[in-house]
Amino acid sequence: MESKQFDRQFIWGCATSAFQIEGGASADGRGESIWDRFSKKPGNVAEGHDGDVACDHYNRYRGDVDLMKELGMKAYRFSISWPRILPDGRGAVNEKGLSFYDELVDALLEREITPWVTLYHWDLPQILEDEGGWPNRKTAYAFAEYTEAVSRRLGDRVKHWITHNEPWCASILGYQTGEHAPGIKDWPKALAASHHLMLSHGLSVGILRRNSPDSLIGITNALMHVQPASGSYEDREAYRHLDGTVNRWFMDPLYRRCYPADIVADHRESGYISREGLSFVYPGDMDLIAAPIDFLGVNYYSRQIARSTAIPESKNAPRDIFALPPDQRTDMGWEVYPDGLTRVLERVHREYRPGQIYVTENGAAYGEKPGADGRVPDSRRCVYLRDHLLAAHSATESGVPLLGYFVWSLLDNFEWAFGYTKRFGIVWVDFETQQRTIKDSAYWYREVIRNNAVSLNGAFNNPNRY
Ligand code: FCB
Repeated sequence: MESKQFDRQFIWGCATSAFQIEGGASADGRGESIWDRFSKKPGNVAEGHDGDVACDHYNRYRGDVDLMKELGMKAYRFSISWPRILPDGRGAVNEKGLSFYDELVDALLEREITPWVTLYHWDLPQILEDEGGWPNRKTAYAFAEYTEAVSRRLGDRVKHWITHNEPWCASILGYQTGEHAPGIKDWPKALAASHHLMLSHGLSVGILRRNSPDSLIGITNALMHVQPASGSYEDREAYRHLDGTVNRWFMDPLYRRCYPADIVADHRESGYISREGLSFVYPGDMDLIAAPIDFLGVNYYSRQIARSTAIPESKNAPRDIFALPPDQRTDMGWEVYPDGLTRVLERVHREYRPGQIYVTENGAAYGEKPGADGRVPDSRRCVYLRDHLLAAHSATESGVPLLGYFVWSLLDNFEWAFGYTKRFGIVWVDFETQQRTIKDSAYWYREVIRNNAVSLNGAFNNPNRY
């Protein structure tokens, strides 16, 4: 059977985030996060779901680490909950919060699974939001304190650090569309938030270098493959603006020390920033943000078509994808478009030249349940993963330094504004009993890891494709 072989050093892993799986909301002195507050407000999260228990990973992490071992994972990307470490956002460190991650890291290392730590996956301490949140410059310095506490404790064993997960979501969805916590709808605040997130990244890089020598440090961006709906001037303009706000706004500061001038001009015209420009950028900020990093994390899910009539800035807005048949969309309504991953990786390599690239998230929401035989026949997810891995492989063939891949996600979990209604896991979670059931896709992925290769065919039992 024909297959595509990956480099011998290629890193195979899976990803999760703290708020989405841990639960233990008030365990051992954890403080409140913006997602606790946001999810308790009726109407913000589907079916009124919250993260109080989630996958109860806080209490079940050992079993989950065993599960990863059983699935052959080489690396595990997880995030740390800031309000567990610093319940007041800054200042006093909560020892019990730190020891949870300390033990998790040791459990992983004992099983030869490399920990990849994300410092911020959207769960800002609520107390900092009360002081203005990310639009307040002081939050960046609180993040530096938090980085200091975590890296001092874990920096001897954790050698892979991701400062932020998708600052686009944290700023734009949190402060502009309001569909994520803290639920604010204010462009000027969202732009200030985006800058302070990037600034906090820069501050954090220096601290990590000091506290965790010989580690690899990077940031993860949500990168979308954006295309204009047509060749018309208006659609091309919509494309330029969307690509600029989603992709370039978060890449240019890292690799070019500046924000994209065309988008700055757009925001000035809309009145979101003053005539003088970006008042929140202080001298020296851009140098800090552009501090050399070792790798770029890329999260890729779908493509987005830009049309002049409606510029979809929202994760949850239906992707405008030419009335696709349902079998080409996931349960999120997102188009399955593997070629976009190749294009995104090639573009990032061509235009920004990161030394190393990792796909830090890629996956699909599909709802297949355990059948009477106990199997979860999620062949659509197998197809999605296979086709995206082939797309990733094709990027490596054209010279992209892609060195690893993390499937989103290990477990079905709290999918933000969708609560538990969308299932991204390669392992099924019964949220009543907390029982885990390995889905077919996880067995399939285990074979990929074992062979370090993806075969072009597969027994996924999908009559539409085979
Ligand atoms: C990404 C997030 C991740 C998950 C996936 C589906 O934007 O980083 O937490 O929600 O989308």
